[in-house]
Amino acid sequence: MITLLFAGHETTATALAWAVYWVHKQPEVYKKLMAEFATLEPDADQTTIFRLPYLTAVCQETLRIYPVAMFTFPRATKQPIQLQGYHLEAGTMTYGCIYLTHQREDLYPEPKQFQPERFLERQFSSYEYLPFGGGKRRCIGMALAQFEMKLVLATLLSNFRLALAEQQPVKPQRRGVTLAPAGGVKMVMKGKGMQV
Ligand code: HEM
Repeated sequence: MITLLFAGHETTATALAWAVYWVHKQPEVYKKLMAEFATLEPDADQTTIFRLPYLTAVCQETLRIYPVAMFTFPRATKQPIQLQGYHLEAGTMTYGCIYLTHQREDLYPEPKQFQPERFLERQFSSYEYLPFGGGKRRCIGMALAQFEMKLVLATLLSNFRLALAEQQPVKPQRRGVTLAPAGGVKMVMKGKGMQV
């Protein structure tokens, strides 16, 4: 129960709030997403939705720009090691900083810009893009979280027309172990159905 509530629920819910924010903040992203949903058959199954390329890129970029988990869990070095010019004694605790990796300008030009296209243009290694951590202790819920994010977004956006209630940028704020939208993402309902 604790894993599902804290590791599973809060993280995915926060990621979805960010995704809804970015999609409505940038009308061209919204348009491209709607155009992709419009290609779906009315009875499209979940696997087809999961494989949509632009939807996938939107979810990847959402977890890049403000990774819900800013850090990996800690690792302890088993033996002394030289790491990028630093000498670490055995037993040193280290954390991977997901946020700083995702802000590297050499990997992600204009890192503060929300640009899903970067994920369509090139593939990133697991050392360059790691919203779910990495190695043996990578997030156990990664597949479930990605599946949930895509299905919730596709269902929400194809059934309801929403708009941001406020125009000023929503800032990220540390909430416990997550990087969440400060004050939440307030939306207004504009109507039902899909806007293509
Ligand atoms: C967008 C959603 C999520 C994000 C961004 C996320 C991110 C992460 C990260 C960064 C780690 C640390 C991995 C490492 O140290 O290498 C982690 C671990 C973990 N996550 Fe997630 N997570 C998400 C959703 C979920 C879900 C849905 C579940 C379960 C249903 C879950 C369960 C866990 C568990 C149990 C661990 C500890 C794994 C271990 O220590 O072996 N997470 N998660």
